[in-house]
Amino acid sequence: TWTPDAFVDKTVAELKQKIGNEKVILGLSGGVDSSVAAVLLHKAIGKNLHCIFVNNGLLRKNEFTDVLKQYEGMGLNVKGVDASARFLDDLAGESDPETKRKTIGRVFIEVFDDESHLVENATWLAQGTIYPDVIESVSATGGPSQTIKSHHNVGGLPDFMKLKVVEPLKMLFKDEVRRVGASLGIDKSLLGRHPFPGPGLAIRILGDITPEKVAILQEVDAIFINGLKEWGLYDKVWQAGAMLLPVNSVGVMGDERTYEKCVALRAVESTDGMTADWVNLPYEFLQKTSNDIINKVPGVNRVVYDISSKPPATIEWE
Ligand code: XMP
Repeated sequence: TWTPDAFVDKTVAELKQKIGNEKVILGLSGGVDSSVAAVLLHKAIGKNLHCIFVNNGLLRKNEFTDVLKQYEGMGLNVKGVDASARFLDDLAGESDPETKRKTIGRVFIEVFDDESHLVENATWLAQGTIYPDVIESVSATGGPSQTIKSHHNVGGLPDFMKLKVVEPLKMLFKDEVRRVGASLGIDKSLLGRHPFPGPGLAIRILGDITPEKVAILQEVDAIFINGLKEWGLYDKVWQAGAMLLPVNSVGVMGDERTYEKCVALRAVESTDGMTADWVNLPYEFLQKTSNDIINKVPGVNRVVYDISSKPPATIEWE
């Protein structure tokens, strides 16, 4: 029978054998898969694993610094690369969802290629690909591997894609990856994270993206997600997030009439992201969250809750 401990022992031995003294590059996304792949490889080859964690400026509030610290605390040889400005500059003025995705994919590849050149004599590229990624075209987990795959037909092959590829989780399902992660001692706060799309908040800001909109959505999202955690609801939800709508609506504040932004909250139950049901969150929770958002986030005067299931609605709005 399959056990996580046996999988770890066997895979670490195989990785040692396969990689020897060569250097490996791995893109960390902050998600479960790339993190588990990194810890597994680190256990096998130590400092010869060079991890790269890119901030695309579209992560959750404080995510880049918090997760980078967490990775460092786990002993990983990781370099954080803040490329926010590069991503946001290239996205400026762009409203089309697919063009936004393509731009983010392209900039990611450019940044990752630059960084991988700084790791001298690397011969391997490791990826956190899991079994469902192999059989499906859209990964529910996102992350660099997905971005790389969907863009490798653009222009010439970047150098890092000419490296030998190692994918230690390729035969595992998500729950097995989580069990392997637990067996490796990875913190529950990391293993239990909701899926987050590779293009991040870019596809939750409907229309064009500005640094101001990103900042507003990060605040809204943080109130919602922290609220779910405080109310013990986070682990009951498969994925949750907020969308910044391209809609202003009238409100009142004191004697003033306001004309400000509307956000939609979304929380779904799912097993694989292919189908999903909206979650029946407690009214008291929604009430408190809505009040917090409207009182604490300048520029937002209306909150709605998305009660659409997939299909026909998708989980993301773009
Ligand atoms: P949809 O919106 O298609 O989302 O119901 C299903 C799952 O996929 C995630 N998603 C993405 N992940 N790049 C990603 O890495 C993307 O472009 C992307 N679009 C959607 C979404 O968050 C959900 O988990």
